[in-house]
Amino acid sequence: NTQTSSRKLDHLRICCEHEVEAGSAGFEDVRLVHEALPEQDLKDIRLETEFLGASLGAPLFIAAMTGGHPATTEVNRRLARVARTFGLGLGVGSQRAALEHPELAGSFSVVRDEAPNAFLCANLGAVQLRDHGAGWAEQAVEMIDADALCIHLNFLQEAIQPEGDHDARGCLAAIAELCEDFKTPVIVKETGAGISRETGRLIWGAGAAAIDLGGAGGTSWVAVEVERTEDEGLRSLGERFLDWGIPTVVSLGEVGGTGPVIATGGVRSGIDVAKAIALGASLGGMALPFLRPAMQSDDALEAAVGTVLREVRAAMFLTGSGSITDLAKARTYITGKTRQMLEI
Ligand code: FNR
Repeated sequence: NTQTSSRKLDHLRICCEHEVEAGSAGFEDVRLVHEALPEQDLKDIRLETEFLGASLGAPLFIAAMTGGHPATTEVNRRLARVARTFGLGLGVGSQRAALEHPELAGSFSVVRDEAPNAFLCANLGAVQLRDHGAGWAEQAVEMIDADALCIHLNFLQEAIQPEGDHDARGCLAAIAELCEDFKTPVIVKETGAGISRETGRLIWGAGAAAIDLGGAGGTSWVAVEVERTEDEGLRSLGERFLDWGIPTVVSLGEVGGTGPVIATGGVRSGIDVAKAIALGASLGGMALPFLRPAMQSDDALEAAVGTVLREVRAAMFLTGSGSITDLAKARTYITGKTRQMLEI
């Protein structure tokens, strides 16, 4: 419906203009061990990596944000161009609006037009998958000729919304049924509350190809809803749950290394990307930090991504990691609240 579509625009505006981050992802409690004799040339460091059979230019993923309103086409166009320039993976936002209103498909398919060879991820909510079946999953993939399909989980956001989907039953079965004979790899993705060890086991058991753990400490959908609402009940319930969820670093401790994992949620620099990889992620993902530059210009976005990649390279240099495989073995010190949570 047009409501889904205009809500998308609201979300982008709120994410750009207001404080929508809550809590801490835990990266400040992690330190990569410095190697004072790295014995390598910074310029020879290889950022290239593989993910679900695709070759990527760097272990940075641009996480799902937008599409679904004509005004978002330009943002997706710029995200796709930067993904092509640097060989990065890119996810589009939930395609629900375009599945309900096919005339909106162009705001998503623009990513494939701009980046014919990029690793692109389609996006659909677990609730929509359950309610509309694999047909919608198929259409979402076809719309952008996707390399993978993200099925997103957002029950925290649903729980605080009076009109949210409050019945979560059947989503796991729907994912398992989809994975059984779907030709495109399925990534199960949280959106800011993290994946526990137990839920991780359920997701692998269902046959998912990867997990995007979408941990707490970055963009908070509760904060976005609190900002958007005039409903006092939603506001007070939301404020209670601002801090809910498993911080990204803790969620990495729970599911990192159990399979291909993307770490999103509060990844805010190339150093955070490097830490995530050392903690068992295959890729570090960022959404919010690229939104504002993507709304500005191609140059602003290219500069933002370039900065992150230079930071990854420098962190690899200083940990003596010549490749992403080496970085995955880099040692970390973990302190504070994050360490306490990891020990539980
Ligand atoms: C998102 N995110 C998201 N995720 C998803 O699966 N489907 C979606 O439609 C959206 N939409 C969306 C819009 C905007 C404006 C933002 C900032 C984010 C969630 C996103 O992919 C990511 O998991 C979280 O935002 C955590 O990463 P950051 O923002 O803390 O880097």
